[in-house]
Amino acid sequence: MKLGIAADHGGYDLKEQIKKHVEAKGIEIIDYGTHSLESVDYPDYAYKLTTAVLGKEVDLGIAICGTGVGISIACNKVEGIRAAHCTDSFTARATRQHNDANIICLGGRITGIEIAKDIIDNFLESSFDGGRHQNRINKITAIEKGEYNV
Ligand code: RB5
Repeated sequence: MKLGIAADHGGYDLKEQIKKHVEAKGIEIIDYGTHSLESVDYPDYAYKLTTAVLGKEVDLGIAICGTGVGISIACNKVEGIRAAHCTDSFTARATRQHNDANIICLGGRITGIEIAKDIIDNFLESSFDGGRHQNRINKITAIEKGEYNV
């Protein structure tokens, strides 16, 4: 598995810590920035990461801003992206199983590193259940494409 990670300045510190955690597990992770605490715009980093996920440069993404909200909104504007803002491990696991989330979003000013590690581990160790959930994903895709008529 190969991961991508991106953050704005509000998520920079947590990004650096999560990278170490993921690398220690032997998982390759590509860093799409930002690379300092200088103020930047989170949509720029959402766009870089979503492009990498959709282009299959990475299998899954981790997106971080101050709250996790702005960057999740930006990621979810991209067709084919299902970005889940998580503050707990149960949601991180369920969003892979039920929503086939391809990006997890965290708040660098909200979630501490120990909780973040557990959230990331649950996300990475889970997979999509399919079945009835696939039908729901199909409806999300139809909404994205303007083809929803159910
Ligand atoms: C940046 O100050 C902050 O607005 C951003 O990191 C994020 O929290 C937005 O949702």
